[in-house]
Amino acid sequence: MENRLRNKQQLDIRVCEVIINIILPPYFIVTRKVILYIATSLDGFIARKDGSVDWLEKYNTPAEDYGYNDFLDSIDTIVMGNTSYQQILSFGEFPYKNKKCFVFANKGTESQYAEFVKGSVETFLGELNPDKNKNMWLLGGANLVRQFIGQDLIDEFIITIVPVIIGGGIQLFSEGGTELSLALKEVKSYKSGVVQIHYERKQTMNK
Ligand SMILES: NC(=O)c1ccc[n+]([C@@H]2O[C@H](COP(=O)([O-])OP(=O)(O)OC[C@H]3O[C@@H](n4cnc5c(N)ncnc54)[C@H](OP(=O)(O)O)[C@@H]3O)[C@@H](O)[C@H]2O)c1
Repeated sequence: MENRLRNKQQLDIRVCEVIINIILPPYFIVTRKVILYIATSLDGFIARKDGSVDWLEKYNTPAEDYGYNDFLDSIDTIVMGNTSYQQILSFGEFPYKNKKCFVFANKGTESQYAEFVKGSVETFLGELNPDKNKNMWLLGGANLVRQFIGQDLIDEFIITIVPVIIGGGIQLFSEGGTELSLALKEVKSYKSGVVQIHYERKQTMNK
């Protein structure tokens, strides 16, 4: 009798473990997503060879923000590479003062607006403060994006394609990258000819 009771209790505990560890997490645990939000030319470049993004300026109008402000409200953290960071600083007033910014850099150790980090992107994400529950914007550039893709660490991709062919420059996705399958969430098209494609990483057994 005592044995049967003990077995029953063990079975109950096992059922509870299954519910807590396997069934509940997908529905109740909200995890921070890493979202790549970036603009490219139709031929897949994020900047000219010299790093300039002058071809994007024409699309930066007060009349249409392509969902940029809503997106900014949805994130509390930004991560970027040092080249992108130095370029943003060169444009004038730093636009992301109210966000926690991390800059991957070998050169430089401190900055007024950002915390400098280095090394593995996977380790970086693992050490982030879990209390923050808004999403993280992976701003770019291509070098940092390649590292995140290499470790399959991007949850969503919001790619804004502007109707310009620039013929060369820094490719968003360069050759030799990792293969990933994505699922379409949304496509928006704008009068200006801009198309914004929103993908999420397909959930597989490995992710
Ligand atoms: N079209 C868009 O929406 C968009 C968005 C973002 C950027 N961009 C463009 O992208 C271009 C920059 O892209 P990029 O690929 O050349 O550079 P990037 O990814 O912005 O920065 C690369 C640099 O970051 C540092 N870094 C990267 N990974 C690191 C790591 N794991 N540990 C330590 N440091 C690390 C290194 O800098 P150091 O060794 O020098 O410290 C590296 O040279 C710019 O021209 C910008 O305009 C365009």
